[in-house]
Amino acid sequence: MKSQSIYASLLLCILTFTRFLTIAAELCIDFPNPLDHSEKVIVECPTTANTDTDVKRQTINFFQVTHNCTVNVALCNKVKIAFIDAGVEISKVLNLKQIIKVYVFFTDFNDINILGSAGSARKIPLISDDKIIRFYPQALVKQFSLDPHPEYSDLDIIAHFNAGQEWWFRNDNVAIEPEQIDFNELILHELIHGLGFESSWNDDLEYLDRQKTTGLTPDFLFHSNEFLGFYEYIFDRYVNFLSSSSVVSTSTSYTYQLNMAVAKKTSFNTYSDFVTEVKSSSQWKYAESALIHAITNYSLYFAPAKYTSSNKGVYLESGLYPFARGSSISHVSIIYEKTPDFLMTWKQDPGETLEETIQFVNYTSPIGPGILSILESIGYETDNSPNPIKPTYIHE
Ligand SMILES: *[C@@H]1O[C@H](CO)[C@@H](O)[C@H](O)[C@H]1NC(C)=O
Ligand SMILES: *[C@@H]1O[C@H](CO)[C@@H](O)[C@H](O)[C@H]1NC(C)=O
Ligand SMILES: *[C@@H]1O[C@H](CO)[C@@H](O)[C@H](O)[C@H]1NC(C)=O
Ligand SMILES: [Zn+2]
Repeated sequence: MKSQSIYASLLLCILTFTRFLTIAAELCIDFPNPLDHSEKVIVECPTTANTDTDVKRQTINFFQVTHNCTVNVALCNKVKIAFIDAGVEISKVLNLKQIIKVYVFFTDFNDINILGSAGSARKIPLISDDKIIRFYPQALVKQFSLDPHPEYSDLDIIAHFNAGQEWWFRNDNVAIEPEQIDFNELILHELIHGLGFESSWNDDLEYLDRQKTTGLTPDFLFHSNEFLGFYEYIFDRYVNFLSSSSVVSTSTSYTYQLNMAVAKKTSFNTYSDFVTEVKSSSQWKYAESALIHAITNYSLYFAPAKYTSSNKGVYLESGLYPFARGSSISHVSIIYEKTPDFLMTWKQDPGETLEETIQFVNYTSPIGPGILSILESIGYETDNSPNPIKPTYIHE
C-alpha cells in the first residue's frame, strides 16, 4: 500500500512536472518599452529549428544596430559611431557566436531628467543546471546554439535615449563640460543590461495594480487571468539575501516560497483579485523580506558561478531608499564607484568621461572583473571562462 502510494505520487509528480515544463516552454515575455519594464507582452514562442550558423570568431563587432533617430543627421551620426564603439568593446571581452540585433530610438523626451534605457526585447524560459526554469535574455540564448530553440523575436535588445540631454561624444575630441554625460559610457552600461545584467525582483505585482510597494517578487506570468508562476531571471540564480554578512536566503528559495502563495493555473476574475490573494497569503512575508533587503546596504550579493574571472562576490545596489524601480538591485553597489567595476553602478556622474574613469581606476577595459564574472555566470563565454554553464530546452 505504502509503496503503491509513493509510486502514485511519484507519477503525479512527473506528470505535473512535464505539464508545467510544456506550459512554460511555450510562453516567452516581450518587453517592447525599454523605458518601462512593467510593460510586458506574454507571447507564444513555439519550438523552432535552428538555422543560425556561427559567425566568424574574428568578427570585430557582433552588434547590428538599427537606428530610429529623429534629430539632425550630424547628431544621428555621432550616435551611430558611439554604438559601433560600444559593440566593439563588448565583442572584445565576450566570445560571442551570434550577431546581437539592437534597435535604438534617439528622440527628444522633452524631459531633462531622463537619460534613456535599454533592455532585452524577449526573455525565454529554459531549464537551468539545477533543473529550475528561469527566463534568459534572447541575446544570450542565441549564443547557446540550441537546436531546436523557442521562437526568437526579430530583435534582441531595444534601446531608447533622450536626444534632449547634454551628451558628450568621444569623437568630438573636445573636453567634457561639467554638466555633460558621456554617451559612450551610458550606452555601454545599457547594452550590458540588455545582455542580461538584470534581476527579476521588482515591485511590478503591486505597481501594476496601482498599489504602493510593500513587497518585491520575481517576474511572473499572469496570462488570460490565469496565474502561471513566479520566475527568476538567470541573473537571480546567483543572488543571495544577506544579513550581517551571512546568507539568509537565496533568491531561488524565496521564489520557491512565493510560488506556494497561489497554486499555478489558478484563474482569477481580475488582476486585482490575484494581487489580493498573493498579498493575503502567509508567503507574502518573503516579498516583504525581499524589499527590506533591497533597501538595506550590504544585503544583496551576487555570488558568481565557479570558474569565472573573479571568484569574489559582488554586492548589488541595495542602498537606495525608498526602493527605486530600475535602479535598485540590477546594479552593482555604489561602493564600486571608484573601482574597475564602476560601469554598472546605478548613476553616471556628469563631467567625467569613460576614458578618465578607466585611467583613474587603472584597468584595461571599461568592463571590470566583477561585471565580467556576472556575465560569465549567466552563461556568456570569455577567455577566462570557456565553458560556461548552459541551460537546456525541453520541447515536445
Ligand atoms: C521610428 O519610430 C516611429 C515610432 O515608433 C515609427 O513610427 C517610425 O516608423 C520609425 N521609423 C523608421 C524609419 O522605422
Ligand atoms: C547606503 O550607503 C550609502 C553610501 O555610504 C549611503 O549614501 C546610503 O544612504 C546608504 N543607504 C541606506 C538605505 O542606508
Ligand atoms: C596600474 O596597474 C598596473 C598593473 O596592475 C600596475 O603595475 C601599476 O602600478 C598601476 N598604477 C597605478 C597608478 O596604480
Ligand atoms: Zn542601469
